[in-house]
Amino acid sequence: MRTQTTILLLLVTWTCIDGYRPVVIVHGIFDGPKQFKTLVLFINKTHPGTEVTVVDMYKNMCSLKPLWKQVQAFQRAIEPIIRKAHDGVHLLCFSQGGLICRALLSTMPDHNIHTFIALSSPLAGQFGDTYYLRQVFPDCVKDTVFLVCYNRVGQRVSICQYWNDPHHRSSYLKNNRFLPLLNGDIPHNNMTSWKQNFLRIKKLVLIGGPDDGVITPWQSSHFGFYDTEELVVEMQNQEFYRNDTFGLKTLSSRGDIALCLRPGVKHTHWHSNFTVFTECIEKWLT
Ligand SMILES: *[C@@H]1O[C@H](CO)[C@@H](O)[C@H](O)[C@H]1NC(C)=O
Ligand SMILES: *[C@@H]1O[C@H](CO)[C@@H](O)[C@H](O)[C@H]1NC(C)=O
Ligand SMILES: *[C@@H]1O[C@H](CO)[C@@H](O)[C@H](O)[C@H]1NC(C)=O
Ligand SMILES: *[C@@H]1O[C@H](CO)[C@@H](O)[C@H](O)[C@H]1NC(C)=O
Repeated sequence: MRTQTTILLLLVTWTCIDGYRPVVIVHGIFDGPKQFKTLVLFINKTHPGTEVTVVDMYKNMCSLKPLWKQVQAFQRAIEPIIRKAHDGVHLLCFSQGGLICRALLSTMPDHNIHTFIALSSPLAGQFGDTYYLRQVFPDCVKDTVFLVCYNRVGQRVSICQYWNDPHHRSSYLKNNRFLPLLNGDIPHNNMTSWKQNFLRIKKLVLIGGPDDGVITPWQSSHFGFYDTEELVVEMQNQEFYRNDTFGLKTLSSRGDIALCLRPGVKHTHWHSNFTVFTECIEKWLT
């Protein structure tokens, strides 16, 4: 009897310690916590008791603010959550939010983010005529956006900071203040420490697909991007991968990158599609 009670107590203790890690969600451009209610329900339903936070800042039009500013603010918001969570936290970031999280992970020393899930994020940049572009620059087509984006004023708009025009590479490298630094396309002093910080994650999960309709090329969600002919070069052949400028190759050789490619999902549906949740997300949220 005594032994049974002890085992029962041990089981209870073990189960409690072994609860799900907290999940922090970072929204995308032109949206906010409201758009993530379904995802929060999915998590609550499949992993009851999970502490889920959808960070409530830089919503809707404010999501166009400069990214480094947003990165700092999101960092401050997430800090108290990760301090409390001794066993780590999962970070699930949608679209532009994926870039904010990528930057946060590189610039935040001693973070304990366990798994970083980038849900349809333009991780290698964006180059396409989309609804979002027309909202911000109604008079531009993709071939002229570099004119408004690659200068000091343009760099005050978030989308310009990951606008990656393959036909104006040198201007991109020189004038874009965000993505080339983050991906180590140009060398800078913080590269070693940024890489160390980023590599603290245990798992990188990249989710995207060909029917997205916004992320262009859609392979950017898997770190692929256009070459100068607008042909897609996959992640493994990108220079930032081959040179391991920010840790991607190391993560891959550790076996810690998981790709999830799903057709039939439009950009704004990724976070509320239950099939995507069960097949690409659920198993990582433990
Ligand atoms: C999660 O589920 C529990 C019970 O199943 C419910 O009481 C709670 O309100 C739910 N929380 C959210 C955020 O949906
Ligand atoms: C990659 O490495 C090569 C050879 O060392 C170097 O010439 C090139 O500038 C590097 N590129 C990047 C993006 O780090
Ligand atoms: C490198 O880090 C320092 C200190 O955190 C910061 O002031 C500086 O702006 C960073 N450099 C770049 C290129 O971001
Ligand atoms: C949900 O995702 C599946 C693929 O995982 C896809 O086939 C289906 O079309 C999606 N449905 C919607 C409404 O996005």
